[in-house]
Amino acid sequence: MKNYIKMYLQLVCIGLLLVSCNQTDEKKLAINTVNTNLNTTIESKVDSLLAIMTLEEKIGQMNQYNGFWDVTGPVPENGDAAKKYDDLRKGLVGSMLNVRGVKDVRAVQKIAVEETRLGIPLIIGFDVIHGYKTISPIPLAESASWDLEAIKKSAEVAAEEAAAAGINWTFAPMVDISRDARWGRVMEGSGEDTYLSSKIAVARVKGFQGEDLSAHNTIAACAKHFAGYGFAESGRDYNTVDVGTSTLYNTIFPPFQAANEAGVRTFMNSFNELNGVPATGNKYLQREILKHQWGFSGFVVSDWGSIAEMIAHGHAKDGTHATELAVNAGSDMDMESNLYVNELVTLVKEGKVDEQLITDAARRILRVKFELGLFDDPYKYCNEEREQSVTGSKEIQDAVLDMAKKSIVLLKNENNVLPLKKEGQKIAVIGALANDKTSPLGSWRIGADDGTAVSVLEGLKVYSGNQITYAKGADLVYGQTVFARELDINVSDKSGFAEAKQVAKQADVVIMVLGEHGFQSGEGRSRADIDLPGVQQELLEEVYKVNKNIVLVLNNGRPLSINWADEHIPAIVEAWHLGTQSGNAIAQVLYGDYNPSGKLPMTFPRSVGQLPLYYNSKSTGRPNMPSPGEVFWSHYTDVSNTPLYPFGYGLSYTTFNYTNLKVNVVSNNTVEVSVKLTNTGKLNGKEVVQLYMQDLFASVTRPVKELKGFELVELNPNESKTINFTLSKNELGFYSNEGKFLLEPGDFKVYVGGSSNTTLEAKFTLE
Ligand code: NOJ
Repeated sequence: MKNYIKMYLQLVCIGLLLVSCNQTDEKKLAINTVNTNLNTTIESKVDSLLAIMTLEEKIGQMNQYNGFWDVTGPVPENGDAAKKYDDLRKGLVGSMLNVRGVKDVRAVQKIAVEETRLGIPLIIGFDVIHGYKTISPIPLAESASWDLEAIKKSAEVAAEEAAAAGINWTFAPMVDISRDARWGRVMEGSGEDTYLSSKIAVARVKGFQGEDLSAHNTIAACAKHFAGYGFAESGRDYNTVDVGTSTLYNTIFPPFQAANEAGVRTFMNSFNELNGVPATGNKYLQREILKHQWGFSGFVVSDWGSIAEMIAHGHAKDGTHATELAVNAGSDMDMESNLYVNELVTLVKEGKVDEQLITDAARRILRVKFELGLFDDPYKYCNEEREQSVTGSKEIQDAVLDMAKKSIVLLKNENNVLPLKKEGQKIAVIGALANDKTSPLGSWRIGADDGTAVSVLEGLKVYSGNQITYAKGADLVYGQTVFARELDINVSDKSGFAEAKQVAKQADVVIMVLGEHGFQSGEGRSRADIDLPGVQQELLEEVYKVNKNIVLVLNNGRPLSINWADEHIPAIVEAWHLGTQSGNAIAQVLYGDYNPSGKLPMTFPRSVGQLPLYYNSKSTGRPNMPSPGEVFWSHYTDVSNTPLYPFGYGLSYTTFNYTNLKVNVVSNNTVEVSVKLTNTGKLNGKEVVQLYMQDLFASVTRPVKELKGFELVELNPNESKTINFTLSKNELGFYSNEGKFLLEPGDFKVYVGGSSNTTLEAKFTLE
């Protein structure tokens, strides 16, 4: 064992003695923590360490820096980087983000462990959003699988690959509900529904963190962005959020609460203001709800620079004030505002920040470091051989391929155009995205290398003996880098149309791969129009003139409005951004090797003007046209109220039938529901059986329908199965405007089917 660790352990023993003399004070430090399930051994080690830490060192734990120099290169000498390097050596850095790869992580960890007074290891954070190097589908796509086991597995392999590269903390899952497809970050969440998102949040947290956080292949997860980020006005990223308490308690909070109950070890606050107070400086959110009411025992990291951004929000006077507001509100770690490290000591000395809050924040951070096992072995994530053998391993590739197939949603399949025949077909493949090996990786995949995805063109060639010709038709974007402005500009060059029409004319089937480039969604990528970008719509219409037998494969990070395609194109496949194995997954679905089973996690609108559009809306006082031609009811005069494709919608190559819906009220907080599902088609297939509920009248109005249960069921042709659901208190009740959970008597409806627009219904009453 290295000398510094020995020294550290000796100090811990001294600390233990000190702590035992000072129990009462120590207990006071457990501010806001009501969690009783804490590991007592870890707690006493944390106590011991805190007892020997200076105020500066505790504040150091609360400071997170971005990787500030090429760790393999020379030590920085000038400016910001030099100061950060110096801070690291002084023990004034608790965490770094965006340092990855064993070599680099080891280099920074070595400084923290060997050069600082106490040798406290760093926690290394990274955005492992949908994979690290091997990329799984974007989270919105994964959610379309409704397959919690597969989603968990996807997080598990992402954790394994990231952990092998030195990372021990991911800034995922994002559990923000969003109802606005204009918001670029819908790609990173689970869609519009609170119930589905809560289940997925649990699956992802469990996948990342595993059964044992101290294992070398698990990493700490982070529920973000607390809270309300997905409700940005007009879908414009970072914009103001102003929502009522009913939405906050019933729609926004539950996935966070579910993540907390699943044991998520960190939370990230958020860029937005919520009802006038920036989330980062929001005491109600962080101290009252999260740490007090929910008993969260991990730590809260700010979002990037969000402490300093409170000045631009008009909430803080300057950096010092922002620091004071953030710490008092419960933001434990400062991501890159560089304020805590510079301002906090003075604020404590001036009595503006209570030192107990600093100790509490440091305690939370140290607790997670102990849980990760970093004190037992700070280099436990730094094994070069493991990095070599795990990165891109077969197990990981298989898992992301499996996830990718399951994420695909069949939107239309007139006259069973799909699945395609594997032999004897002349197939024309058209569209820049068909031949793109980078775009399928999607947004938020910083660890992956460009050009590492299997393209659709490659996949189609592997899975069939058909004759395949390709024409680009039109470019989609100029550049391919994350920050390139050009990505926002769509080209107008139509010179490739003629070639595209030529190959289409000679083909039996045309596969057109259209949609958004991987970087057209994600952070900072809000769109005011959500139709096919650039000249792709024109290309589609031109090709249609010469061959109507088109399969449209969509690549996108958000719902699109594709009315013309829905009206004219016989087959439409929603293939999102599916990651490294994209082309293989799409080919397997197009050729019928995998029968599509995905269901939309977000409503597809007819027009961007309908947004926000979501299935679980309220009724209004004038929900229906009272008589033909009547004007005064809740509607648009130029577009229907209905979506193009509703939440929960998705087809299969087989068909399913629902019968025998039965409801049994067992008690006022237990209702049993059953339904018979039959595969009425010719192929084996999977169906997501969805149960929706409506509380017909309540002290606070309830949505017209709310998802309250689902089950993924696989059936052979002609096979039937009875599916049983139990609605208990959690499903039957709701939160009042004061945040109190209510279970009210009254009349209810249940709907069961394969989409949110199902009409199979039954009634029940609670006394
Ligand atoms: C800003 C994003 O909002 C957040 O989700 C992410 O984790 C951090 N940047 C770190 O990259």
